[in-house]
Amino acid sequence: MLALSDYTVAYGQSQVINGLNLSLEPGEIVAVVGRNGMGKTTLMKSLIGMIPARGGEARFDGQSLMTVPGYERVQRGMGFVPQGRMVFSSMTVEENIKTGIHSGKPLVVPGHLYEYFPILREFRKRMAGNLSGGQQQQLVLARALAGKPKLLLLDEPTEGIQPSIIKEMAKILRQIRDAEGLTILVSEQVLSFVMDVADRIIVLEKGNIVHQENRVSADEKKIASYLAV
Ligand SMILES: Nc1ncnc2c1ncn2[C@@H]1O[C@H](COP(=O)(O)OP(=O)(O)OP(=O)(O)O)[C@@H](O)[C@H]1O
Ligand SMILES: [Mg+2]
Repeated sequence: MLALSDYTVAYGQSQVINGLNLSLEPGEIVAVVGRNGMGKTTLMKSLIGMIPARGGEARFDGQSLMTVPGYERVQRGMGFVPQGRMVFSSMTVEENIKTGIHSGKPLVVPGHLYEYFPILREFRKRMAGNLSGGQQQQLVLARALAGKPKLLLLDEPTEGIQPSIIKEMAKILRQIRDAEGLTILVSEQVLSFVMDVADRIIVLEKGNIVHQENRVSADEKKIASYLAV
């Protein structure tokens, strides 16, 4: 579904992603784990086309992404949930979700989305800015899913969210993956969430993969040691 080879991203002279090699099978959930400033957001933003790659190759669903503009990546089936829960505050929940739909008219929120996130159905007429942080995170997730992506890029979805909701989010993501065959690349620092959600874990340090393993056999202590400051 996604294949990166020697993938490199830089800001001017500063190389942040250093020749990454990574591939995701269809339906796989891969967590990219790393401390602050290790390049998680840079990787996500470059994959969705917000930052150009400096070198190497990225292929999505068999086709090169390197010269493909961001909007076309979305049309081809990539979805992105940026770090920091960016909702349109003065639009309703329903209107926010509709901004994620990019085909078909009239715009109708697919009913199954509300089944994953019942709170959003209940609050669909409320202003998104009035939702709690955890509810806003569900909203941005629903908005991305409304575009029916094949590959979802999630940048630190648990930031600032309480443990019970984090647990719930992992469950919902796996349900959605099972039901829709979605492939997910998620960046994270919360190890409990990673252990709940991921099939495979890769550790990013200064733009390099320094460790990777399957979640079932993962050495939690070792991964935690990479996250310790
Ligand atoms: N626009 C930019 N110009 C120059 N350097 C940048 C820019 N954006 C990020 N960086 C630098 O790139 C490095 C990686 O940042 P990035 O935001 O990708 O890290 P991160 O792993 O997402 O961190 P966090 O966990 O804090 O979100 C950092 O050293 C950061 O200062
Ligand atoms: Mg980040």
